Amino acid sequence: MTRFLSGRTPATNSEAFERALAVTPGGVNSPVRAFRSVGGTPVFLASGRGPYVTDIEGTEYVDLVGQWGPALLGHAHPDVIAAAHAAVDRGLGFGAASTGEVELAELVIDRLTLTGPDGIERRGIEKLRLVSTGTEATMTAIRLARGATGRPLLVKFAGHYHGHSDSLLSEAGSGIATLGIPGSAGITAETAAQTIVIPYNDEDAVAAVFAAHGDRIAAVITEAAAANMGVVPPKPGFNKLLADTAHAHGALLISDEVMTGFRSTAAGWWGLEEREGTPYDADLTTFGKIIGGGLPLAGLGGRTELLDLLAPLGPVYQAGTLSGNPVAVATGAAMLGGAGPEVYEHLPRAARAIGDGLSAALTAEGVEHVVAWAGSQFSIFFRADAPQNYAEAQDQATWRFGPFFHAMLEHGVSLPPSVYEAWFVSAAHDDTAIGRVLAAAVPAARAAAAARPAVP
Ligand SMILES: Cc1ncc(COP(=O)(O)O)c(C=O)c1O
Repeated sequence: MTRFLSGRTPATNSEAFERALAVTPGGVNSPVRAFRSVGGTPVFLASGRGPYVTDIEGTEYVDLVGQWGPALLGHAHPDVIAAAHAAVDRGLGFGAASTGEVELAELVIDRLTLTGPDGIERRGIEKLRLVSTGTEATMTAIRLARGATGRPLLVKFAGHYHGHSDSLLSEAGSGIATLGIPGSAGITAETAAQTIVIPYNDEDAVAAVFAAHGDRIAAVITEAAAANMGVVPPKPGFNKLLADTAHAHGALLISDEVMTGFRSTAAGWWGLEEREGTPYDADLTTFGKIIGGGLPLAGLGGRTELLDLLAPLGPVYQAGTLSGNPVAVATGAAMLGGAGPEVYEHLPRAARAIGDGLSAALTAEGVEHVVAWAGSQFSIFFRADAPQNYAEAQDQATWRFGPFFHAMLEHGVSLPPSVYEAWFVSAAHDDTAIGRVLAAAVPAARAAAAARPAVP
């Protein structure tokens, strides 16, 4: 555990939280960590190894948060840690070009070059600009789309989360959904008016928004498969419909693969749809999480003629002191390098074992629920059928989740502390870890069955 320089190192989760509350808003540096929707005291984690994390009190949990995505190979994978150490030994960063950035870009572009069932080679992206967070990647994608098209409007889907930049917080998922708020204060009406929010998986809404505003829309942005309102995959062919409709109107499709990139398949959700015979052409694709292997790194990819509109070649400005940091690119390259075909075979198997086992436990207790899937990502909804959009995702017995979550935690399983977040497995989730999750599922299902809605 980190020792405080003051010597007053907190010994328990509640002491740490009390002291955090005094110095940090809500005691956390990102809202979904705060346990607001599930109640209780957040656990303060001290270390992680493989599928496990350990808190400052020494309690070990099977981790299904996975750093919210990056921990594809599990925590502290020896090769990733070794790559980070080696990079640290060379210096923490230089603010100058370094070859690790080239290596990572080549690795990513290579992963997104696929030969389809028709024998034709398709390239998901041709160039990559590295930034530090997913928020920066989507923010830059929007600026680039506006710069390329000379148009002002952006279309997004209710319940999708793309980071916390001003244009993207209307009816967003993730923490905005968890806190049950419509958006954020501090965003001007003029900015909000430039984002049009429509329901997900709704072909008619897509047609209508383009019919009404088609010549003013710069881009439609979508999570490649939505996973910030719980997991809500696109209908088959929906991403292609978005690409085709946008292109017919001279607009761009921004596919947000911050969550799904390098997770759904080696080539992300785009690769999964290529394989399943519904290929689509995204103009810009955003990456985050796994690309940095656990350190702050993200990226924006696309066709050369679009990416070359970025400074220094083009008129769209974007920059970053820490962009392409050498330690982060080394860690990201090691994470990607370690994720071979066996990892992509293991993830859905592990996820299925957990999802099906949980479902069986809930069914045994008579709890209405559905496990929703997008590749190896899944989440539980306390409703009868898998939702197609945000309104349906919200229409569930959310009050069952808090007791379910706390019973899992008490029995040694760390879940995302919100019913609206996806669960993450890793290559390190072996039969032992899965067995521990399934053992915890029995009392957790009982707690969900015993839960009652709060009396208003
Ligand atoms: C789909 C998606 N896009 C963008 C982001 C924002 O990434 P970051 O938190 O790195 O800013 C997230 C974060 O969870 C995400 O899930």
